[in-house]
Amino acid sequence: MQWTPTHGEPYRPVPYRPARMPAAESLARAAELRERMDGRRTVRQFSPDPVPEQVVRDAVACAATAPSGAHQQPWTFILVKDPAVRRRIRRAAEEEERISYDGRLGEEWLAALRPLGTDEVKPHLTDAPALIVVFQQRYWLGEGGERRKHYYVDESVGIAVGMLLSALHLSGLAALVHTPSPMRFLSEVLGRPVNEKAFAVIPVGYPAPDCEVPDLVRKSLDQVLVEI
Ligand SMILES: Cc1cc2nc3c(=O)[nH]c(=O)nc-3n(C[C@H](O)[C@H](O)[C@H](O)COP(=O)(O)O)c2cc1C
Repeated sequence: MQWTPTHGEPYRPVPYRPARMPAAESLARAAELRERMDGRRTVRQFSPDPVPEQVVRDAVACAATAPSGAHQQPWTFILVKDPAVRRRIRRAAEEEERISYDGRLGEEWLAALRPLGTDEVKPHLTDAPALIVVFQQRYWLGEGGERRKHYYVDESVGIAVGMLLSALHLSGLAALVHTPSPMRFLSEVLGRPVNEKAFAVIPVGYPAPDCEVPDLVRKSLDQVLVEI
């Protein structure tokens, strides 16, 4: 049965009293998490080894706990398993990427991408053992065709994808956020309804044994945090 958003109903509070974590434990967990998250890298060369599918499902379940504007949960995650569908996605994505890298992106964008070593060839779309395509629901569409506006869709889906990437990483899997532009072909290949717009394609798996990543420097805490 289709999930229906709450709308115009009265406020119905329930108690929320999670046990408070002792400060020492909080500090230890935060320091460990900081180190583990710093070990996350975007992977573009995947091993073909299969991943436990339940880990991917659990990570999507984690993502779906994300906060969202007016609790409208405007996301759909498609786990694409069919090799023929994945080949179609790769063919269409590489066609768009070829045009992009041949000049559509413009010199400034291409210069920004140069240190990443990316090009129009996207083997991960067919070779990574799992592929998640994330769609954002621009508005809610009822079974009878009724529509309801969604608020802060980009922000909500961005947060959910951040949580998905964290969950995958902390569960031992690597991922890539791939955003071929434009992404309209994904709606067609995956048969998504008119209220949904593709947000990102996320191959998931283990890094290939000879995997390499660009030598990037992250901003330090004092460069990103302003305390007033
Ligand atoms: C919104 C977004 C879009 C991205 N699109 C692409 C992409 O299309 N292709 C790609 O290879 N990497 C893409 N990336 C990955 C970034 O290049 C990568 O996160 C960045 O270089 C930092 O590397 P790190 O994730 O290893 O820290 C994208 C990342 C984000 C957040």
